This record gives sequence, structure tokens and C-alpha cells, in this order.
Amino acid sequence: MASAPETKAAEAENIGEASGFVNDIFKIYSPVNLLLTAFIFFLAYKIYSKFTKSSADASVVELPKLRKDMTVAELRQYDGTQPDGRVLVAVNGWIFDVTRGRRFYGPGGPYAAFGGKDASRGLATFSVTSSDKEYDDLSDLNSMEMESVKEWEAQFREKYDLVGRLLKPGEEPTNYSDEEPEDTDHSSGTPTDKKQD
Ligand code: HEM
Repeated sequence: MASAPETKAAEAENIGEASGFVNDIFKIYSPVNLLLTAFIFFLAYKIYSKFTKSSADASVVELPKLRKDMTVAELRQYDGTQPDGRVLVAVNGWIFDVTRGRRFYGPGGPYAAFGGKDASRGLATFSVTSSDKEYDDLSDLNSMEMESVKEWEAQFREKYDLVGRLLKPGEEPTNYSDEEPEDTDHSSGTPTDKKQD
């Protein structure tokens, strides 16, 4: 049987442990942490509800394939607000038809800022914004950001149809009119590669 002082010491230890645990709980559930968690849930909910809301009108009719090089100004009209609802996005100098992903890039979508725009810089810097620059040569992006742009380009190639190249000022468009549909070469280097020659 433990003597009285020993029992007291054990009790004190237990109380010490318990208050340590209570302190930990208080730290975890500190107002700052609770606020941050609530904010993250709020953001996730906002993005999710935007997806579900716009997916209701996502019954997009297949549009005829578009094969065309465009300037930044021409690209701008394909933000999904035209009657046919076509949405194009440029990544790393290539233009993709993302009409299938209208719920993301069309009006009201979470990534509407990329619709009809060159999304490269935004994707590289993890920011859903696009600039109204005439042509963004991305030359100030660091190597990690450029890697990220290339990965996004690969993802877009997998998922969406290629429309053409994003033209630099003064650059001539390619004539695709005599091209077989199967000829659409999706792998012949990037305009960024071409820039280097
Ligand atoms: C709180 C932050 C974010 C959350 C919770 C989030 C969530 C999501 C979700 C759920 C998808 C859908 C995947 C699918 O159904 O296929 C998605 C796709 C995507 N997100 Fe985000 N996202 C966030 C931030 C961002 C940012 C900052 C960017 C851009 C810089 C971005 C760009 C994209 C793109 C381009 C897609 C692909 C859409 C497609 O398949 O065409 N996201 N995101």
C-alpha cells in the first residue's frame, strides 16, 4: 500500500499529465487554428459549390473541331460568353479547346479567369489570374515555374483538343486547311522550343 506522501506525488503527476494534455488540446483548438480550419473549409466549399452549380448547365453540345493559330486578341473572344459557348485556354504557347471543361473555365467557373486567356503564368505561380498583356513570353519565370507550365501543358494535351499556336506579335498563322484530322500533330515541340531556334 502506498504511503500518503507517495499517493500525493502520484496524484500530482496525474494532475500534471492531465493538465499537459488539456494544454495540448487548448493548443490544437486555439482560436487561430480553428479560424484557419474554418477558412480552409469555407474555401473548399466555395470551390466545390461552384463546380456543382455550373455542372448543371454543362450539357455542352459537341462543337465542330477548331484548328487555328490565334493572337492573344483573337483568343480573348473564346471565354465562353459567345453564343456557341466555346472556351479556349492557352498554355505554354499552345491553344486548347477546353469547352469540355466549361464548368471550370466558362463564365462563373472557378477558373473563368483563364477562359480565352494565356493561363501559363497563372498556372505556374498558382494564382487564378491572367494578364491582359499582348503576349507573355514567360522569360522571367524560374526553372521550377517553367517545369510547372510544361506539366500543365502535358495535362491539357491529355485532356483537351489542340487548336493551334498562340501567335507572338507579327508571327504568321499556319494554314491548317489541308490537314487531315489525324494529322493534328500534338507532339512536335512547343512554341517555346521554336523560340529558341
Ligand atoms: C483551395 C485551393 C484549391 C482547391 C480546393 C482546388 C480544387 C480543385 C478541384 C476539386 C479540381 C477538379 C478536379 C476534377 O474534377 O477534375 C481542380 C482542378 C483544377 N484546378 Fe484547382 N483547386 C485549388 C486551387 C487552384 C489554383 C490556385 C489553381 C491555378 C493556379 C488551380 C487550377 C486548377 C486547374 C487548371 C484545374 C483543372 C481543370 C481541368 O481539368 O481542366 N486550382 N481544382
